[in-house]
Amino acid sequence: MHDEGLIFKIATAAKQLRNDKRKSVYNLAVGESDLMRKKLTIVGSGFVGATCAHWALAKELCDVVLIDIDNDITRGKALDLFQASPVLGSDCKVVGGSDYDLTKNSDVVVITAGLPRKPGMSRDELLSKNASIVKAVTEQIVKYSPKCILVVVSNPLDAMAYVAYKVSRFPKERVIGMAGVLDSARFRSFIAQELDVSVEDVHGFVLGGHGDTMVPVVEYCSVGGIPLTQLLSTEKLNAIVDRTRNGGAEMVSLLKTGSAYTAPSASVIAMVESILKDKKRVLPVAAYLDGEYGVKGYFVGVLAKLGSAGIEKIYELKLQKEAQAHMDKSVDHVKALVSQLSF
Ligand code: LAC
Repeated sequence: MHDEGLIFKIATAAKQLRNDKRKSVYNLAVGESDLMRKKLTIVGSGFVGATCAHWALAKELCDVVLIDIDNDITRGKALDLFQASPVLGSDCKVVGGSDYDLTKNSDVVVITAGLPRKPGMSRDELLSKNASIVKAVTEQIVKYSPKCILVVVSNPLDAMAYVAYKVSRFPKERVIGMAGVLDSARFRSFIAQELDVSVEDVHGFVLGGHGDTMVPVVEYCSVGGIPLTQLLSTEKLNAIVDRTRNGGAEMVSLLKTGSAYTAPSASVIAMVESILKDKKRVLPVAAYLDGEYGVKGYFVGVLAKLGSAGIEKIYELKLQKEAQAHMDKSVDHVKALVSQLSF
């Protein structure tokens, strides 16, 4: 028998020693391989959180801590994942529980905690309940991992990223919302299906808020380098744009008891991977804007470079009139949501 929580705590303490440059002591405590592994905490072990852990483990990306209110259930979910590790050939450690002490010195923390949507419900209806949950979670995270990068997933996304930013008092580069990668993945998958081409060759992105006003930017979308507008009629394109905008609601109406989780969690892990490996991928994410696109003080979906410092650059694109009008509308929606918060 071993206590996986204790082993994890020892590894984390050892990592701290390494950070303190007391390497010889550290090397006595754990093997050299643990020197390299990064630490990801996922708060909320529901479908999105647990599936994030699943992807991270399957990719052998980093050690993972799952945190949720119920200690046993969360430990159980983590243990189940850990027991899959020999089959997957993944040496990442996964532990879970309700004690934030486990999260100490995380490199990245993903916040999925909060209520999901039910059929007929908009993301915005979750605002006040999820704001208090995200606030409480952020306070704990900051206490144990003051240098981490926060990736917020809870809905309504742009407002929850704002809450985490305000409560954490982190620099804007270290608070990032996940929505654009998911919305773009939906957009790209529908285009690939329509054209019967590989999803790999469909490039495109969705900007703006994560709501019905999101902006699939057709003019920047291409398939193998060919502008999308040369491949699809306006009618077909509009249908795909609409389906993308309603992508979350379509999933909620099919699943009935909750919202999507596989594509959302894959999207989270793509962002986490870019940060942990300093890949500097250019991805659509919710970022705190400080004048870009004429917006100051709000989280809005934009294209950004993600690396070890978090958001390393925001790309401000020239949009055509129609896309710009949609973007403005989307920003207004985010502002209206945030104005209902007491932060
Ligand atoms: C969705 C939820 C996660 O878009 O917002 O599926």
